[in-house]
Amino acid sequence: MLITILKVRQIANVNIDISKILEHEPTQDERVMLEHFSIINSLVIDLEALALFRLCMMVSPHTRVLEIGSYRGGSTVAIGHAAMLNQLDVFCIDRWSEYQQQSDFNHMDKAQLNDLRILAEFIANTSFIKDRLFMLRGDAVSFSPILGCNLFSLVFVDGAHDYYSVVDDILCALKVIKPGGILCGHDYHSAGIDVKKAVHDVIMLSETIISKGLIENTSIWYAVIKDPEYELLLVNVIKQMALGNFVEALALLTEGSESVEQTKEIDCLRKGLEFEISLL
Ligand SMILES: C[S@@+](CC[C@H](N)C(=O)[O-])C[C@H]1O[C@@H](n2cnc3c(N)ncnc32)[C@H](O)[C@@H]1O
Repeated sequence: MLITILKVRQIANVNIDISKILEHEPTQDERVMLEHFSIINSLVIDLEALALFRLCMMVSPHTRVLEIGSYRGGSTVAIGHAAMLNQLDVFCIDRWSEYQQQSDFNHMDKAQLNDLRILAEFIANTSFIKDRLFMLRGDAVSFSPILGCNLFSLVFVDGAHDYYSVVDDILCALKVIKPGGILCGHDYHSAGIDVKKAVHDVIMLSETIISKGLIENTSIWYAVIKDPEYELLLVNVIKQMALGNFVEALALLTEGSESVEQTKEIDCLRKGLEFEISLL
């Protein structure tokens, strides 16, 4: 217990190098998780499952974890094993439908993409999480208005892989994450060009997110979010800028910046937007 508290304190103080969490060999609990994980048809690899397990063991007990994009439950199994040990509640958002129409699954054999079988596999694979598991079936964006702020100590993003879906999932995560919470996601690699670009634009370029990076030997990116309200404002503004909506972006920045810390970053964004608008 004391070790857990110290770890959480260290995360808040950004003293742990999360990128190196895979440095030591798996413990007995981790080997049990990996054995379970090995029989599941997952889109994450075993090292990534181990990284997710360790991230979930780092957050405070009796808190909540959110996963956006669960599919057959591979990553959920890793999170779930940690949840049972660390007494976390696990919320999973997924459409669990229209797999044959989702462009991320174009490379897969259509015969394998039966919606109800995938949903049934998720339920079977994650049944050990019992009443700590909450399935939210539907589009991630549609849950955003009904979820409150300050709910989750960790959010794992592994939904659709196009640029605006990743940005929207990060927006959804920033709305619900606790200050000091860990935001992380999958597919930060050369094949996931849109994922990399979106995460780069809204997380890696942030001046106020100090602890961030990639977990070594995986494609999992992470960021410790000290001030979710501030980051939410900036990502909303950056999204409007990426869409070319400079007037909307400036309006959002002007309205939102009243309630967050005034930083050089906000000042630069405002000046940049005023310049873009003067060219219209
Ligand atoms: C890459 S898979 C997740 C893989 C999973 N984490 C694993 O360990 O195998 C992406 C999942 O996100 C879901 N998804 C994609 N876009 C979504 C959205 N907008 N809202 C909810 N779920 C979405 C898909 O249905 C799919 O199950």
